[in-house]
Amino acid sequence: MIHIDDETPADAGGRELLLDRVMPNRRTKPSERLREGRMPATGLAFVARDGGMIVGSVRLWHVMAGDRPALLLGPLAVESHLRGKGVGASLMQVALNRAELAGHAAVILVGDPEYYARFGFVADPASGLHMPGPVERRRFLANELVAGSLARAEGRVEAHGPDVRAWDLRAAA
Ligand SMILES: CC(C)(COP(=O)(O)OP(=O)(O)OC[C@H]1O[C@@H](n2cnc3c(N)ncnc32)[C@H](O)[C@@H]1OP(=O)(O)O)[C@@H](O)C(=O)NCCC(=O)NCCS
Repeated sequence: MIHIDDETPADAGGRELLLDRVMPNRRTKPSERLREGRMPATGLAFVARDGGMIVGSVRLWHVMAGDRPALLLGPLAVESHLRGKGVGASLMQVALNRAELAGHAAVILVGDPEYYARFGFVADPASGLHMPGPVERRRFLANELVAGSLARAEGRVEAHGPDVRAWDLRAAA
């Protein structure tokens, strides 16, 4: 039985192995420029577990979308032999519910609108924003958890999450 759970530090190895299997090219993506060297937003990293195995992952990251605070969602990944069973949808629903409960106003991502529209993602609110690298406009999507939170937002999306090195130093202190 598969269930969605908060990611723990002990999950990092299994999550990376899953992502390497499912998305071998993920490090080349413009979204990765917003994640590298950063910690995900507190309480907004989730895994799908099947017994002791991690079979799905999604995380959310602090960014500034122009002058608006927002979250970047991704990568979303599910083990290939378990696709089409709603694991991706469950990860998305938990991630969006928790982001909303935590008071976040908007989530952006780069992904196929044919998949993400069902979770409320559309291109229009992101139309004035630019990722740090080329992305297809139709795949640059936003979900305004608070209506109008990205209205007239313009400019670059920039990383805004805690720096991993600062985090390591704090943990060591
Ligand atoms: C995208 C992904 C996370 C979906 O996980 P999942 O557990 O299969 O998702 P769900 O079971 O909730 O939904 C499956 C449905 O979404 C559809 N779907 C999946 N990916 C899709 C896509 N890129 N575009 C359109 N539809 C898609 C499936 O065809 C299926 O449709 P159905 O319900 O009509 O049969 C999974 O396919 C995956 O890990 N892909 C590789 C990594 C990736 O591309 N991640 C997204 C980065 S943008």
